[in-house]
Amino acid sequence: MAETTTRTGLPRGFRSAEQGWPALHRIPHPPYRLPLVGDVVGANRSTPLQDSLRYARRLGPIFRRNAFGKEFVFTWGADLVADLADESRFAKHVGLGVANLRPVAGDGLFTAYNHEPNWQLAHDVLAPGFSREAMAGYHPMMLAVAERLTEHWDRAAAAGRAVDVPGDMTRLTLETIARTGFGHDFESFERARPHPFVTSMVGTLTYAQRLNSVPAPLTPLLLRRAGRRNAADIDRLNHIVDEVVRIRRADGGGEGDLLDRMLETAHPGTGERLSAENVRRQVITFLVAGHETTSGALSFALHYLSREPEVAARARAEVDRVWGDTAAPGYEQVAKLRYVRRVLDESLRLWPTAPAFAREAREDTVLAGEHPMLRGAWTLVLTPMLHRDPETWGPDAERFDPDRFDAGAVRSRPPHTFKPFGTGARACIGRQFALHEATLVLGLLLRRYELRADPGYRLRVTERLTLMPEGLRLRPERRSAGRASRSPVQTGSESA
Ligand code: HEM
Repeated sequence: MAETTTRTGLPRGFRSAEQGWPALHRIPHPPYRLPLVGDVVGANRSTPLQDSLRYARRLGPIFRRNAFGKEFVFTWGADLVADLADESRFAKHVGLGVANLRPVAGDGLFTAYNHEPNWQLAHDVLAPGFSREAMAGYHPMMLAVAERLTEHWDRAAAAGRAVDVPGDMTRLTLETIARTGFGHDFESFERARPHPFVTSMVGTLTYAQRLNSVPAPLTPLLLRRAGRRNAADIDRLNHIVDEVVRIRRADGGGEGDLLDRMLETAHPGTGERLSAENVRRQVITFLVAGHETTSGALSFALHYLSREPEVAARARAEVDRVWGDTAAPGYEQVAKLRYVRRVLDESLRLWPTAPAFAREAREDTVLAGEHPMLRGAWTLVLTPMLHRDPETWGPDAERFDPDRFDAGAVRSRPPHTFKPFGTGARACIGRQFALHEATLVLGLLLRRYELRADPGYRLRVTERLTLMPEGLRLRPERRSAGRASRSPVQTGSESA
């Protein structure tokens, strides 16, 4: 849409907080603010999220930062976030990192502005691709990909080698979304280096993050080389997805997966279809959103499992008990791994791998009865801090404890205190997909291996809009018991 201002006159592009928050002076900001550059003292360009967590601890549940004259409001207090979840007054804001991805993902589902008609169209056409029935159909493919991973880890275990956890989880989740959604095989496990899709994706995500750390007018100057690389990365992503679509068209259709929906399904109400350009945006969106965050979630969970032997033993005992001798756990058996799922939830609490989401006021309003906002004003919800708020999670909020997610504990907490998948109409469409895939894979790995941590490793978190444990390596050791040696896709139920 050509609209450049909202009805109250706030510009549609970047809206600095002074424009939308009439009582901004009441919101604290870091000390040592410098003219022109803002709050840069102590800031690290490659870890903006972790910088914000540090500021959050010092400044409290709502605070602001200024970078080169742009003022941002960050929010993480439970009552503030609960208010921001009110869909009648607030909506998703496409800003900062998400807006920086528009050149690659355009009006694809994740980056579409709320007012763009392709959001509703694509949402309605694609949502059935995440129904229970669709998920049950993906399950055997998820198992088949998991078997590729265990073959790879078996070889490492036999050689006594450590594995590159984020690298392997990326291989696994990319193959899973590519095969279930697009009937495509990237051959990730046959490659010594990441697939070019992954390299270019990491390039564009990192560039989108860096764009926030330089003043916009100076971007062409300061990021000239990086900008050229980014353009080449976008070309490569387009080229790869165009090939995926070309192969599908040449095959005359698939088996009713996401790509078939994108190419063939008309909107049930209007009969409209996605345009070829929009299909390209959606394929990129789903290939990226469908694997990058899940691989991080699995990697953090494996890190904690390797560090917390009691948690790992309990989770492993559950897998042995619930799956018994079943060689290939069925779709229904995954959701029965309640404790494994809690391990995953607890990992996503401490390190929600999509660590922030932005909300904007639909009309002039007052946030939590205290902070006036004009229509179009927005704030960034810092999910890792919401998930560490001592008022909700107690004084030991930094401690890894999956029992925070047992049913009673969950019921005792107010709503909107755990938000790894965002909120409202624009919350994650792939939530069940991710949870099913990750629980299944954790179950399979726990059943098959003991996970030995490198005692010298200290968790470092790398940021490229998403989060990932940097340099995490584990040594998988095959468990000796019979059931631990089952191949995920073997059928039948031989006894251990
Ligand atoms: C652990 C894994 C995942 C996490 C933590 C995660 C997190 C999120 C979050 C926080 C949002 C909302 C962003 C915002 O408000 O700006 C979101 C949206 C989205 N996610 Fe996920 N996601 C995960 C897995 C997936 C998977 C597996 C898929 C696809 C198969 C997917 C596809 C999407 C899409 C398309 C959107 C945009 C939805 C819309 O605006 O209508 N995600 N995700």
